[in-house]
Amino acid sequence: MLSSPQGFVAPSWLDAIAKVQLGHWPTPLERLPRLTKELSGPQLWVKRDDCSGLATGGNKTRKLEFLLADAINKGADTIVTYGAVQSNHARQTAAACAKLGLECHLLLSQRVDWKHASYNNNGNVLFNKLFGANIHILALDEFEQRQADILTDLAAQNKRVYQIPPGGSNALGALGYVMCLAELEWQCKEMMMSLDQIIHASASSATQAGLIFGAGALGSKVDILGINVFHPDPSTLTSRIEKLLGQMSAQFPDSKTSSDLPININHAYFGEAYGKPSQAGLDAIKMVAELEGLLFDPVYSGKALAALIDQINLGNFSQHENVILLHTGGAASLSAYVDAF
Ligand SMILES: Cc1ncc(COP(=O)(O)O)c(C=O)c1O
Repeated sequence: MLSSPQGFVAPSWLDAIAKVQLGHWPTPLERLPRLTKELSGPQLWVKRDDCSGLATGGNKTRKLEFLLADAINKGADTIVTYGAVQSNHARQTAAACAKLGLECHLLLSQRVDWKHASYNNNGNVLFNKLFGANIHILALDEFEQRQADILTDLAAQNKRVYQIPPGGSNALGALGYVMCLAELEWQCKEMMMSLDQIIHASASSATQAGLIFGAGALGSKVDILGINVFHPDPSTLTSRIEKLLGQMSAQFPDSKTSSDLPININHAYFGEAYGKPSQAGLDAIKMVAELEGLLFDPVYSGKALAALIDQINLGNFSQHENVILLHTGGAASLSAYVDAF
């Protein structure tokens, strides 16, 4: 059995699946006392996956532990992955590849309409350069052709390529968030508190699918609310999660978990577009930085934070609940969004 120094033991079916160690586990579960007081709200907590220990942290570390173990077991020496220019997934993949001695290619699409010089040069892009990744910034209309050319070129060099989908979001990557749910259940038990509500930013879907599947596998009653920050039509997110749950149920029969599980999504905090800061998100980031000394980003975790604050103000959480904001990271992009502040 794999266990963290503090005594967390993963469910045995999950423990049997290969992982590489990239992060620091368990991530802390901390109270937000000043925010709780300010909002006169339920008991607020933050699960610090922004402190996952890899290259300023974030939710991709857990996924990459499974994905890169699979890549290495399949004999890969080169990783190709995808994202927007300021992708946090790309940055964590670049760091993990550096740590594991793998060649890394990042195919970053110019899908975000944020025309400030820092967007293309600072934040995650700067870190990707430091990690020695091969960065390919591609316009949307040339993406498919350039992708095909890059893959052909790598094959001609006899590279053994393993491709990771955007956000590390497939059934294997989602296991990272099954692990997170198990860790949270264990932490809450240790702290003698009930695990009532989780709220988090949701985009490529595997964080939410993993949490939902984990709750199903463990028989947890926790309510999981995903805040859509990526899909203009939220039904796309729901169907992606449904599909992933089906794939997980089929791929991991030892979990004895059906894919028929509740999916809760809120689209009200999406703002104008993916990658465009919203005023509510910026206000929330500033408020919680000043109240709790925590950093959130305007693309993902800041929009989840805005949702948390608004949902409390609307009275949508019971005063008796423990509400946990899953901090999925993203602050590495703050310097790329300096013009928003
Ligand atoms: C900081 C941050 N939070 C949340 C998410 C959303 O996670 P997922 O793509 O698994 O839905 C991402 C994804 O890129 C992210 O970078």
